[in-house]
Amino acid sequence: EKGGYEHFMLKEIFEQPRSIADSMRGRVRADDGHLQLGGLRSYLDRLAASKRIVIVGCGTSWHAGLVGEYLFEELARINVEVEYASEFRYRNPIIKENDIVIAISQSGETADTLAAIELAKSKGALIFGVCNVVGSSIARATDAGAYTHAGPEIGVASTKAFTAQVTVLTLMAIAAAKSKGTISEEDYRQLLIELENIPSKVQQVLEKAEKIKEIAYIFTYARNFIYLGRGLNFPVALEGALKLKEISYIHAEGYPAAEMKHGPIALIDEDMPVVFLATKDSSYDKIVSNIQEVKARKGRVIAIITEGDTLIPTMVDFVIEVPKTHEMLVPLVSVIPLQLLSYYVAVMRGRNVDQPRNLAKSVTVE
Ligand code: M6R
Repeated sequence: EKGGYEHFMLKEIFEQPRSIADSMRGRVRADDGHLQLGGLRSYLDRLAASKRIVIVGCGTSWHAGLVGEYLFEELARINVEVEYASEFRYRNPIIKENDIVIAISQSGETADTLAAIELAKSKGALIFGVCNVVGSSIARATDAGAYTHAGPEIGVASTKAFTAQVTVLTLMAIAAAKSKGTISEEDYRQLLIELENIPSKVQQVLEKAEKIKEIAYIFTYARNFIYLGRGLNFPVALEGALKLKEISYIHAEGYPAAEMKHGPIALIDEDMPVVFLATKDSSYDKIVSNIQEVKARKGRVIAIITEGDTLIPTMVDFVIEVPKTHEMLVPLVSVIPLQLLSYYVAVMRGRNVDQPRNLAKSVTVE
């Protein structure tokens, strides 16, 4: 059932070209500009007209929500707040008319997320779900939604569910932007074309698994890791750190790269591995100076870069290239090497990657 892979997690990482494609199937067609999410069709106007979106989730699903925040704000110009479901449910959250709540959950059974939905409902919010498990409690509790079609995810560490969630949120944000008129026809077409190219770009990253394994081998000794990114790559940094923590038991933290100066930089020395999300997008120059700051303090840098970048390889210890894509879609390719890195580090440390200690696949108690 592992399809020849040593672990479910590795199988699921390698399934991503397909699971991303499945999450777009029938929904996107670049050649004639088709974009439709069946379950949201009759709610699209309300989504586009909403004054504020509150996204709730836990763990990796919360990270997908943070990516969604950038997407909805940038493309559809809708104000977004992303909340841990566990915090949201114990506050007295302010929900106004025209607010929409989006609940994200792979399992559809996470207790805190379900409770957050019930609370938002009691305050009269319209609730959308982005779930992977059909007919799950969260899917049933929401007013409408769009399923991710990642297929069953067995490994406790979420991988293909994350990229499927980001894919669906991207489709929702583009659809809202189109309906609202906040996206140009040209950018709309370009995004759809680039979306269709994502599965093959993810495949290209997967083909670098051997190289990533070699890098992982070098860093198996580490006791700490820092992950840094900006913009859409900031949630990817958080996700990379979570993946490493949960399966290898190495302490890791993700930060927005510019926050480093406000404290974490004190941790940098020659033993500190720092993973930079340094793809060529609008924050590239800023990331380059953040890399310089870490190198000046002898940190050991692994940089995820865009193919063809000739500058960063001269500055850092290791690079992993990912294909160029539209800036809004970068997380879908930049997260892949981080999943593989954490997988190989965990395997080399002899960890039970599919069932890490103290963790359950779905957290049905608070
Ligand atoms: O099933 P859900 O998406 O609601 O689960 C949320 C978190 O429990 C989950 O993402 C958890 O953080 C994963 N183990 C991360 O890999």
